[in-house]
Amino acid sequence: MTTVRELVESTAAVLGDHVQAQWLVEVAVSADHLDEVLDEDVTERMVAHLDSMVGRLRTGEPLQYVLGRWAFRHLDLFVDQRVLIPRPETEEVAGVAIEFAKLVKSDRTVIDLGTGSGAIGLSLATELPLDGTAVWMTDVSADALDVARANLAGIGRPARNVTMIESSWFDAVPAELQADVIVSNPPYIAAGSRNIERSVDDYEPAIALYSGTDGLGAIREIIEHAGRYLKPGGVLVLEIGFDQASAVRKLLVEYGFVDEEIRVDAFGQDRIAIGRWNSGTK
Ligand SMILES: C[S@@+](CC[C@H](N)C(=O)[O-])C[C@H]1O[C@@H](n2cnc3c(N)ncnc32)[C@H](O)[C@@H]1O
Repeated sequence: MTTVRELVESTAAVLGDHVQAQWLVEVAVSADHLDEVLDEDVTERMVAHLDSMVGRLRTGEPLQYVLGRWAFRHLDLFVDQRVLIPRPETEEVAGVAIEFAKLVKSDRTVIDLGTGSGAIGLSLATELPLDGTAVWMTDVSADALDVARANLAGIGRPARNVTMIESSWFDAVPAELQADVIVSNPPYIAAGSRNIERSVDDYEPAIALYSGTDGLGAIREIIEHAGRYLKPGGVLVLEIGFDQASAVRKLLVEYGFVDEEIRVDAFGQDRIAIGRWNSGTK
């Protein structure tokens, strides 16, 4: 018989990474807390599951998809190849959206465009007050929305504040909706870009990554139409590429936003574009 502890050790030896081995074994043995089951025996089925995960990892599939889950802020999200793997810099984008939404003292409406796994929108739903918060989440990909719905089911009571719609940017957003904050991490890589890691290009959905020849197609479209769905003084928060700050700043000004600002992420890269809707130009 093999114990869970022995399985971790042998997997760590194969992978050369103890932490990854622990994560994989935790999933293979379906344990919430690995340290509580270290001395238990494993079954053949657990070993087969682990072997299959290690095999997938060795072919280059990202760890997050192999595990089928990934942490984002306070959430443990289900992820698979239908959605982008949530990134640490996007946790900061969500944090900025939450910061602005918290400034709204009574009823607040927020929209997460291109929600993917639901990372940003579900963070808003769980971190903003339960009462008086309405969260709208959209994606053009029905596959992505299936993943987001699975994650919605996991957040408990805040799920009651969430509406998900299949929509290309604002196309199916109700015309009368007026938000305090619109946030999006849209696709922003130029089609044909050569700076993309192989595993990203091979495994993550192209629709989540690429947008036009300059990478600005989705950003441009969102900035152009966001004002119609923002309350006077409402805020647009966008994740952008590290080299897109000046282009995005210009777009914000061109389409009537004020107080435009670019914040850097924890890696020191320009990453978060913010604009306030100037109702005077609406
Ligand atoms: C970079 S991913 C972000 C996913 C998630 N919000 C996150 O931060 O991890 C971009 C998302 O935008 C969606 N998307 C692409 N084109 C879209 C469109 N025209 N309308 C709405 N969503 C779109 C993709 O399906 C994808 O889920």
